[in-house]
Amino acid sequence: MTFGHFDDENREYVITRPDTPLPWINYLGCQAYFGIISNTAGGYSFYNDARLRRLTRYRYNHVPFDFGGRYIYLRDDESGEFWSPSWQPTRHDLENYTCRHGLGYTIIGSRYRGIEAHTNYFVPLDENLEVWHLTITNQRSQRAALSVFSSIEFCLWDAQDDATNFQRNFSIGEVEVEDGVIYHKTEYRERRDHFAYFACSGEVEAYDTQREAFVGPYRGWDKPLAVERGRLTNSIAHGWAPIGAHQVKIELAPGGSGQITFVLGYHENPRDRKFDPPESQILNKQTVKPVIAKYLNADVVDAAFQTLRRHWDGLLGILQVDTPDAHTNRMVNIWNAYQCMATFNMSRSASFYESGIGRGLGFRDSNQDLLGFVHMVPARARQRILDLAATQLPTGGAYHQYQPLTKRGNNEVGSNFNDDPHWLILGVAAYLKETADWSILSEPVAYDNEPGSEQPLYEHLQRSFEYTLARLGPHGLPLIGRADWNDCLNLNCFSDTPGQSFQTTTNKDGKVAESVFIAALFVLAGKELAAMACAQGRNDEAKSYLVEAAKMEEIIRRHGWDGDWFLRAYDDFGRKVGSKECAEGKVFIETQGFCVLAGLGLDNGMAAKSMESVRRHLATPHGIVLQQPAYSKYYLHLGEISSYPPGYKENAGIFCHNNPWVMIAETRLGNGDLAFDYYSRINPSAREGISDVHRCEPYVYAQMIAGPDAPTHGEAKNSWLTGTAAWNYFAITQWILGIRTSYEGLQISPVVPKSWRGFKATRIFRGVTYHITVERTGDGNRIALTVDGVGVPGEVVPKPPDGRREISVRARLS
Ligand code: BGC
Ligand code: NOJ
Repeated sequence: MTFGHFDDENREYVITRPDTPLPWINYLGCQAYFGIISNTAGGYSFYNDARLRRLTRYRYNHVPFDFGGRYIYLRDDESGEFWSPSWQPTRHDLENYTCRHGLGYTIIGSRYRGIEAHTNYFVPLDENLEVWHLTITNQRSQRAALSVFSSIEFCLWDAQDDATNFQRNFSIGEVEVEDGVIYHKTEYRERRDHFAYFACSGEVEAYDTQREAFVGPYRGWDKPLAVERGRLTNSIAHGWAPIGAHQVKIELAPGGSGQITFVLGYHENPRDRKFDPPESQILNKQTVKPVIAKYLNADVVDAAFQTLRRHWDGLLGILQVDTPDAHTNRMVNIWNAYQCMATFNMSRSASFYESGIGRGLGFRDSNQDLLGFVHMVPARARQRILDLAATQLPTGGAYHQYQPLTKRGNNEVGSNFNDDPHWLILGVAAYLKETADWSILSEPVAYDNEPGSEQPLYEHLQRSFEYTLARLGPHGLPLIGRADWNDCLNLNCFSDTPGQSFQTTTNKDGKVAESVFIAALFVLAGKELAAMACAQGRNDEAKSYLVEAAKMEEIIRRHGWDGDWFLRAYDDFGRKVGSKECAEGKVFIETQGFCVLAGLGLDNGMAAKSMESVRRHLATPHGIVLQQPAYSKYYLHLGEISSYPPGYKENAGIFCHNNPWVMIAETRLGNGDLAFDYYSRINPSAREGISDVHRCEPYVYAQMIAGPDAPTHGEAKNSWLTGTAAWNYFAITQWILGIRTSYEGLQISPVVPKSWRGFKATRIFRGVTYHITVERTGDGNRIALTVDGVGVPGEVVPKPPDGRREISVRARLS
């Protein structure tokens, strides 16, 4: 069953009924001002940090699920009937409802009793504001006299405080209204230099800024009293709940249409020019007024919208593919790349499943996310890497998270997730392979943001590597610390107290439990670091990294192999985790995928056996589960993993983040059919037809799909902000389609299904456009390259001569 369809040409997903199984959302903004918007106009906005600079209020875990947002009401002033063209909050039986989620914009609209109304919501590039551009058309045969109402609820800025500190917050809300513009200035009288505003291009008949005056006592957003009466009250909020609502009257002849623009924005004043006049407490509006005036002009809005569309065309144009599979094409060309940008902007902070007040940017997560967006925004990726590295600790360990606004490590969560430091090496490697910008390695970067502690980035990577060498366990494998990639395998936690955080509770000294996963990650990081050292002429260092990586490979072979698959870990008692010897949790996906991806066991049959075990024990039609058998009860010594009911999340759910590791592993074994089959099982577009089962958006990946042990096998959860986006993009583009960045240049090594006769791709790489045609002439994966008509050896396209901007590459696959 479907709830809409893809419009590939416009790069939109078109939702055709409002009651999707879950809110299907989109992101507005891609620089500093952001919003989340659902298909019924729910969601909220913030400047840079969803917790500390929250503009509008949102109530998570509300009933119904998605409530509160950027709501517009239309009122027929003759009959008194009112409704919302985005369905919520009044939930009228609309005709022709559509929501077009596009790249950085969402257009929601409908027709009701002959009145058609569509609102285009977007954030213009380089501005700290959002536009709601409303078009209303009268399709009746008589004149229509309507009132249009806007509404938003301000969040008093700190969303955590907003949801908890009522004894203060109900007294501090302040607004000003001037020329119909509503200014939210809570706490501006003291330490804030920023304020929000909500403006309207129509003639403002009246406004409200106090919530109760608008909704009425004992009422909600579905039936606001002031809208019902057809008259806002010009209320001024003194404390309680400041909102913004405008009323505009509009008369439309039959067939006539009108437009109104609403602008919600964020603005900062210099500290010494906060007030006007200076000795007053009145907002200085001198610099904000021109911005507001600019965007109340419909031509400016249209032009800004076109600029935004061109911006996305440019980003996505860096890689476009034309394969025999429509789902691959639309995910690679549009949605998967777009989701990667969302993870760049948000990490795991703000979605409909991440509250924006919890996690900041994860160290591990943000480094992996780089794999998916480094080609689109290399300069910003560079800055991200430097910010991340500056939160590294002098030990080489890392704060697990940092707050984007302050860029400081997060003390509440702390460090000791022993995989963290290695992802920095992989992130930097991805950046270097894309850009060849070796200068990044000599950038001075502080440790723990401590001025004076700056060392070249390269030294940070060395410390990352050494961090593990200084923390080896009884078998010579890396100690796991609080957890490795799997945050829920908490082998030193031993929590027996309700409500304790599995992430931060450590009851063991951590000297025994070891991770085979970190061992594999270390091997891969060692190889990457060696390549970087080599490129800088540091041959001895390179050699020593390779020696350490080889030693670790040997240890994995000796102590990390269970006979048919790679072990997962050793627990605090030195017992195996992920072994035939275990009663439950005998085989795990992470080490199968990552060991083979890192090149382990390709020469001795272990890799093939490990993949065979994945097929036999872990693969389902909905994707590959994390482990089997699921844990049926809570195991004190394993931690959060066993806290989930079987089939969900890390306890034998299909964790879509690590499925691509297996896809890549299969390509390393040359199995294009299986790699692509695994890819398709979790590809959201390929699952669109079962939207009633999958339930999450069909245009983006979700973190998890319930495994076969769950009663809801196939149901996805936690869409949008997940490492799944980057890893699937990486797996399909670089390993299955095989258009791979390398230090030497662009490599073409497809491992695609046997049934594919070929495919085409365009890739802009280091300033040159590569027009790539792959043709299959045999069943294998052997490559013969021709560059501009001349055959070249190997699989890497030689660096084109200086000045060359376009080249054509043909790859024969036999
Ligand atoms: C989730 C993990 C997540 C961790 C850290 C756990 O509850 O299951 O997926 O990584 O929390 O926030
Ligand atoms: C989600 C977290 O964001 C990520 O860091 C972690 O690797 C996975 N969950 C698995 O636990």
